[in-house]
Amino acid sequence: MILRVCLVLTAAAVSIGIMAPAFAQAPTDPLPDDPGKTVIMSACTSCHELGLVTLKPRTADEWDRLIGKMVDRGAALTDTEQQQVLAYLVKNLGVKPEVGSADRETRP
Ligand code: HEC
Repeated sequence: MILRVCLVLTAAAVSIGIMAPAFAQAPTDPLPDDPGKTVIMSACTSCHELGLVTLKPRTADEWDRLIGKMVDRGAALTDTEQQQVLAYLVKNLGVKPEVGSADRETRP
């Protein structure tokens, strides 16, 4: 009889252990703090949401052209800030160009 009580208690203890919360996943920040981020937060969010900037990763070349495009549109960035933003975006939202991707354009 005592043995039986012990088994029940042991089983209860084990199942409480198994049911321990399993939601300890920290959210990952896609944009770590950096001087480049500070520039982006002030210079790239006046016309559109930051979400548009972080929507998809691009190659260094694409970011370079895109920043030029935004400056043409009126983004107020000094040369140094453009370099900071470019370096930051390439590091945190960059993709390597695919091999041969330049030849894969299928325009007639
Ligand atoms: C003067 C206003 C203005 C500022 C400042 C600005 N943008 Fe934009 N941006 C636009 C407009 C307008 C569009 C939508 C038209 C387009 O896609 O060409 C756009 C679109 C975009 C897109 C989506 C383009 C695509 O083809 O997917 C990205 C990414 C972007 N901006 C990044 C930036 C970054 C990075 C900065 C800061 C360096 C910035 N923008 C600052 C006006 C601005």
